This record gives sequence, C-alpha cells and structure tokens, in this order.
Amino acid sequence: MAVLRPGFAVEASAYDEQPDTRHVAAYLDGAVVGCASVFPSPYEDEPLAWQLRGMAVSDGLQGTGVGAKVLLGAIDIVRDARAPLLWANARVTALGFYERLGFAVVGEEYLHGPLRLPHKIITLDL
Ligand SMILES: CC(C)(COP(=O)(O)OP(=O)(O)OC[C@H]1O[C@@H](n2cnc3c(N)ncnc32)[C@H](O)[C@@H]1OP(=O)(O)O)[C@@H](O)C(=O)NCCC(=O)NCCS
Repeated sequence: MAVLRPGFAVEASAYDEQPDTRHVAAYLDGAVVGCASVFPSPYEDEPLAWQLRGMAVSDGLQGTGVGAKVLLGAIDIVRDARAPLLWANARVTALGFYERLGFAVVGEEYLHGPLRLPHKIITLDL
C-alpha cells in the first residue's frame, strides 16, 4: 500500500476479492518487502486466464532483484494452476520490468486505478 497507493486507505490495496486469489511475499527481517497477487480472471477470448495485481517492492529495495523473484514465484503458481495466460494492467513506468520477465505489451495506453496513472495491458503466454 505504501508503494502503490500512498495516502489511500488499506482497502484500496486489498487484492483478494476472489477466494482463489494467491499471494506471494518477500520478507526481510520479518517484514514484507515485496508482494504480488494472482487470481483467475478471464482475458478477451481466454476464459481460463489469470490476472496479476499488487506487484510492488519497498522503495529502498527496488532494483535489487526482489521484484523478479516475487513475480517468478507468482508465475509458478499460475503455471501450476494450468492457466494458459497471465495478464495485468501494468504501469507504463514498469513495462521494462515485465518485458525483462517475458511479458508482451499489448495495445494502447490508458489511465487506470485510483491514481489514474498511464497503464498498458501486458500478457504472458504460459
Ligand atoms: C516495478 C517493480 C515491482 C520492480 O521490482 P524490482 O525489485 O525493482 O525489480 P528487479 O530489481 O527485480 O528488476 C528485474 C529486472 O527488471 C529491470 N527493471 C526493474 N524495474 C524496471 C523499470 N521500472 N523499468 C525498466 N526495467 C526495470 C531491472 O533493471 C532488472 O533487469 P536485469 O534483469 O537486467 O537486471 C518495483 O520497482 C516497484 O515496486 N515499483 C513501484 C511500484 C510499481 O510500479 N509496481 C508495478 C505496478 S504495475
């Protein structure tokens, strides 16, 4: 929440509306320093797709490999669920991160989320 929705109530960063939601966290000295959530969420003509939300790393640890480890853990969960595709609304500022991990950037830019930041759809075939 401190990274993705600073100044918003904690409910703005709750990503487990669905019972099947799985969360991945990285810990340092007992504190969460990285997180991501994945859950079944149809995408276009792929009803069995899963969606990624809440991908974040603590400010002081960004760029140190934590995000990649968390995202690879989340991808493993989605693969184990035999989903054919993982997708997300990705901040334009983070597109390079997702591309490094194999995602494709799809379509036009749009404003999204409570902060109305520029986003693009990203997809990963599994
Ligand atoms: C985006 C974010 C999750 C990435 O996590 P991270 O721990 O900083 O990334 P890593 O250190 O694991 O980087 C993995 C690779 O992606 C690259 N990368 C990381 N962030 C990047 C960015 N914003 N743009 C381009 N490349 C990036 C790294 O250089 C690294 O490349 P390498 O394999 O060549 O070394 C993190 O920076 C973050 O929380 N940012 C603020 C919140 C945010 O934008 N979340 C995503 C919302 S969609």
